[in-house]
Amino acid sequence: MSAQSLMDTARTLVANDKGLLAMDESNPTCDQRFAKLGIPQTLEARRAYRELIVTAPGLGESISGAILYDETIRQQTRSGTPFLEILAGAGILPGIKVDAGAKALAGHPGEKVTEGLDGLRDRLRDYYQMGARFAKWRAVLVIGDQLPSRGCLAANAHALARYAALCQEAGLVPVVEPEVLMEGDHDLERCGQVTEEVLRAVFHQLHLQRVLLEGMILKPNMVLPGLTSPSAQEVREVGTGEQQFQVRLTDRPPDEPAAVDEVADATVNCLLRTVPAAVPAIAFLSGGQSAELASARLNAMNVRFKSRLPWALAFSFARAIQQPALEIWRGLAANVPAAQQALVHRARCNRAARQGQYTAIMETD
Ligand code: 13P
Repeated sequence: MSAQSLMDTARTLVANDKGLLAMDESNPTCDQRFAKLGIPQTLEARRAYRELIVTAPGLGESISGAILYDETIRQQTRSGTPFLEILAGAGILPGIKVDAGAKALAGHPGEKVTEGLDGLRDRLRDYYQMGARFAKWRAVLVIGDQLPSRGCLAANAHALARYAALCQEAGLVPVVEPEVLMEGDHDLERCGQVTEEVLRAVFHQLHLQRVLLEGMILKPNMVLPGLTSPSAQEVREVGTGEQQFQVRLTDRPPDEPAAVDEVADATVNCLLRTVPAAVPAIAFLSGGQSAELASARLNAMNVRFKSRLPWALAFSFARAIQQPALEIWRGLAANVPAAQQALVHRARCNRAARQGQYTAIMETD
């Protein structure tokens, strides 16, 4: 497969300040989110929900690529049009989640390794033939006392690199996702240290496996204080004037809020130390942040750093784009238009955040 076509696809995925929509929840994860809202956990409900997403009017104005799940890539609208055809019509490139999930790592209590390398070459060939042009593999790392361990780091970095090399062989741009989870009471600095260590290990392995950096996208976590740390309390208002945001992280009272700018600085500094300039784009996961905070933090990074960064800072959110829409939909056909509006609104907010033009006013219009 030509290096040029991989580089072209990677650049297309972040062109015009657009970003990626992750809609690749595995069936158990999708069902779990449905269950919380009283939505039936059925094949038809998952299909109807994904139809709502792909047919949302105007989605392609802010979204360049959609990451699908194996079930979804084969599905159609109620009236029989394949989702892949709808996405093509909207100018959205189809991507596919190809990992088989994170499983307990032997000998490492509390840690996981992502599986799915066996038979991957054949699956990638099939997905390419179906029309997929990029892929995703997610590794998860926990912060804890003495965690992540060196063994867990090495195993996940190795698997990510093997996956990325196989993707490029098949003509698919690998989205490389090492996610340091938000769970824990660690502070911002510790998340920064761990994320730095993780990214170093990942890029070392990508180099060993001869992955073309120009033909991949990195999907990291933002550097954030742990969910149960004092500084992760609710942030009500941040910034001043046009740059002021009302944002929500948790339901707990504000204590020592981690300022949006502080997160932006810690995240970009960590990436500058670890991500080679040849990588065309960094597309963040949202990881359970509120939708507004994810937009505000991405915006702050672009406002403060965009002109002096070697890579684009983009988004590849699932919950931070989908969650408000899912809460409106609740499985009812009558709610589809309002849910689609909410979905497209979040996509627009994140495109604005790429331009450094996301403001609190966008949330009240
Ligand atoms: P979140 O944005 O909800 O973290 O999901 C991103 C993703 O694709 C996880 O693999």
